[in-house]
Amino acid sequence: MPDTEVAGLKAVGQVDENHAAGWVGPGVSDAAAAHSGHRCRLMERTYAGAGIPVGIAPFEGQHTTPAATRQPGTRQPERPLISVTTSAATPSWLADAILYQVYVQSFADSNGDGIGDLEGVVEHLDYLAWLGVTTIWLSPCFVSPFRDAGYDIADYFTIAPRYGSNDDLASLIDQARRRGIRVLLDLVPGHTSDQHPWFTRSAADPADHRYIWSADAVPDGFVPSPGTRPGGYLPNFFAFQPALNYGYGRPDPSQPWRQSPDEEGPRANRAALREIMDHWLGAGVAGFRVDMAASLVKDDPGHAETSALWGEMRAWLDREHPSAVIISEWGEPATSVAAGFHGDFFLQFGGPTDGLPLRSLWNNRQGTDQEQWAPVAPYFDAAGRGTARTFCDAYAAAAGIAGGAGQIILPTANHDFARLRCGTRGAAQLPAALAFLLTWPAVPALYYGEEIGMRFVPGFADIEGSVLGPQYNRAGSRTPMQWEPGPGAGFSSAPPGRFYLPLDPDPHRPDVATQRADEHSLLHLVRDLIQLRKRNAELGTGPAASLDVLHDGYPLSYLRGGRFLVVVNPSGRTERAAHSRADLATARAVLGSGVSVSADAVIAAPFAYSIFALPQ
Ligand code: NOJ
Ligand code: CA
Repeated sequence: MPDTEVAGLKAVGQVDENHAAGWVGPGVSDAAAAHSGHRCRLMERTYAGAGIPVGIAPFEGQHTTPAATRQPGTRQPERPLISVTTSAATPSWLADAILYQVYVQSFADSNGDGIGDLEGVVEHLDYLAWLGVTTIWLSPCFVSPFRDAGYDIADYFTIAPRYGSNDDLASLIDQARRRGIRVLLDLVPGHTSDQHPWFTRSAADPADHRYIWSADAVPDGFVPSPGTRPGGYLPNFFAFQPALNYGYGRPDPSQPWRQSPDEEGPRANRAALREIMDHWLGAGVAGFRVDMAASLVKDDPGHAETSALWGEMRAWLDREHPSAVIISEWGEPATSVAAGFHGDFFLQFGGPTDGLPLRSLWNNRQGTDQEQWAPVAPYFDAAGRGTARTFCDAYAAAAGIAGGAGQIILPTANHDFARLRCGTRGAAQLPAALAFLLTWPAVPALYYGEEIGMRFVPGFADIEGSVLGPQYNRAGSRTPMQWEPGPGAGFSSAPPGRFYLPLDPDPHRPDVATQRADEHSLLHLVRDLIQLRKRNAELGTGPAASLDVLHDGYPLSYLRGGRFLVVVNPSGRTERAAHSRADLATARAVLGSGVSVSADAVIAAPFAYSIFALPQ
């Protein structure tokens, strides 16, 4: 194997061939412009969104767009920011979802071997239901050598024994359904493990084209064949993850591995993908989060062929499994939704600026960081030197272009990038960030433990491929869930030395039991925010849920559905923003504190957040 396995995000090495993983570059720069069939009015920043505060009666609100006027010396836009109208193109359950990512190995260990498992998830379904979660996404839990924590699959149809059995998954799906929770699995279409029988067979048979093989020499970016077959194969991420062959956007007979997507190998792989989806949908899952969805067809200008592939998959799903959803790890909703996905995440990579919009919110460079990322002051930071404008503009553009055909999904963290609580961003700063997440008109994605303020823990060795670069160790976001105080934190009864990863060693680490007993805790706040969102359509993603950004400096203030005013101040200073909406002075706080609203300004104490209801 070459030295590409843990050398960095470029470990994927195959940027030139692939240029699609998204992890390694901006991908298509003008893809958004290519899909302009949807309504997008960037000059008028009226976002779409709609509901009823906890404890007050349902209200039939009428949305009116305020005619805001610029105040001298403020950054207030003359008019509110975007107009987005959602349609019924995605199932309403996805539009209304509170998504929660369960990293199975780190969530709860039911049998004392130190590794989280499916039965452990079942044991905590009541907790997730109590919190208000509607959909869980399980990171890959299939048979694997676990050199990339399960993203190196050796059998798509069998649950890895360390997590349980296929029957355990069936029981999890059933138990979740009884609590109104849907289950999404992780679909890894771009590559398998080099231990997958498809690959070992392919490495012994020069006539097999399920993977991308050179005939004899080993071109740049390829990995020498481990089998009797001569030549080498193209990896998709780590070297031990051979890329499945979906063809090339620009086939080239002088480089015979650059096949057309119509050839036999790519067709077989597309058929296999349908078979895998069919299998698990038949078992009752609601859909899939799709790993590296942009990576399938190589050298694919504008992602045209990759988009065509997903369009074909979506058409098949709509016929065979009309209520199933696919949400992509693509990082560019405007492109992926046009391709056929029901939703896509804003991510630390992807899109014309390689993930800048999401990083401009959260990335303080003290957790997971890549050298090539241009320095950006994150908006959610005590220093108060960032801006929300980068994100708001990107959100506006994506929402306008996706035009409601699919959902934009907003995470604070996942198993690949740092948690909210990271380095100098401490517990006091989390409420404002989570208030923002849960009142923004994207589908919110909570990563396990974010609801109690678990921390990114620095300094681990590489564990199952966690290290991607000198300052990029994903293990810090993957530590065991903290369920209760005490040595094992309720994660496992195994001796802590046998845990999948060590617990956060902080003696004051937060835990679910303690926070559940304290109604002033972050956990209760997250639950209250979820309830507020669920009970008030104005705070969701639907047609009545407009978003008017009034101020994108500090504090951030926006109106939802013309009914709720949200003010969040990530800065450690008291911040003031002038406005011209005298009527805001009559707003009544329904959640939060530390914010006052007068006829001409909003004033927010350090790290304060508040949600106000306007009289109707
Ligand atoms: C993205 C996944 O989220 C990440 O964890 C994994 O290492 C790569 N794709 C490769 O599958
Ligand atoms: Ca276990």
